[in-house]
Amino acid sequence: MIRARYRFGEYELLVVQVLQSTYGTFNYLLCKKGQAILIDCGEAAPIFQALEKENLQLTDILITHNHGDHVGGCREVQDRLGVQSISPAVESREFPILGTTCRSFDVSGHLPLCKAYYFPMLKIVFVGDTIIGGAVGRLMGGTAEQFFQSLEKIKQLPDETIVFGGHDYLEDNAAFALSVNPENEAMKKLLELYKSEPLAAVFQPLEKEKKSNPFLQVQSADEFAALRKRKDHFG
Ligand SMILES: [Fe+2]
Repeated sequence: MIRARYRFGEYELLVVQVLQSTYGTFNYLLCKKGQAILIDCGEAAPIFQALEKENLQLTDILITHNHGDHVGGCREVQDRLGVQSISPAVESREFPILGTTCRSFDVSGHLPLCKAYYFPMLKIVFVGDTIIGGAVGRLMGGTAEQFFQSLEKIKQLPDETIVFGGHDYLEDNAAFALSVNPENEAMKKLLELYKSEPLAAVFQPLEKEKKSNPFLQVQSADEFAALRKRKDHFG
């Protein structure tokens, strides 16, 4: 199911929601002139549907991390369409794709191996479960030190970069953020926006994400670990 579409110059970004009955994970089709690349592939059928409906030819798949809701449909799509995927194990690098440049970089922490895909010319970044609008993913194999350093890297991107994560957990994330700091005005505004335009609140420019997301405000790995633990036990 295509949940939203955004335009960046000659590029269109389709937000495809997969696994709606369980995780409601976001996969992304970045498209230009009938060609598309896919970022994460949790389920094949909704991807095939979107490609067919939009009359798109898939050329590549980029994977942020190897959780089932991000890779579960990958083999089926690869086999049927004969496309290759770029695993998060591939070294960080800058490469040409779909007529633009993509820079991959390590954002491990949620898992021991996670990659972000940054498109500097389009000012967008795909971060998997490293940032999930208003919070971050759980520590599920990586270390707090890794996760903290990964967030520091993302924070170095230009402020206008729009951050596309793996899920919409904004209401829960906002409740947690406001329990940590009831004066978090940026989060209060975001929650208001969420009522009328949910995805505009979930996919924010980095500048706003930094103001509302308490995990982007910690100063050390220890502080990150404590906050993440607090959220694990929240609600
Ligand atoms: Fe994940």
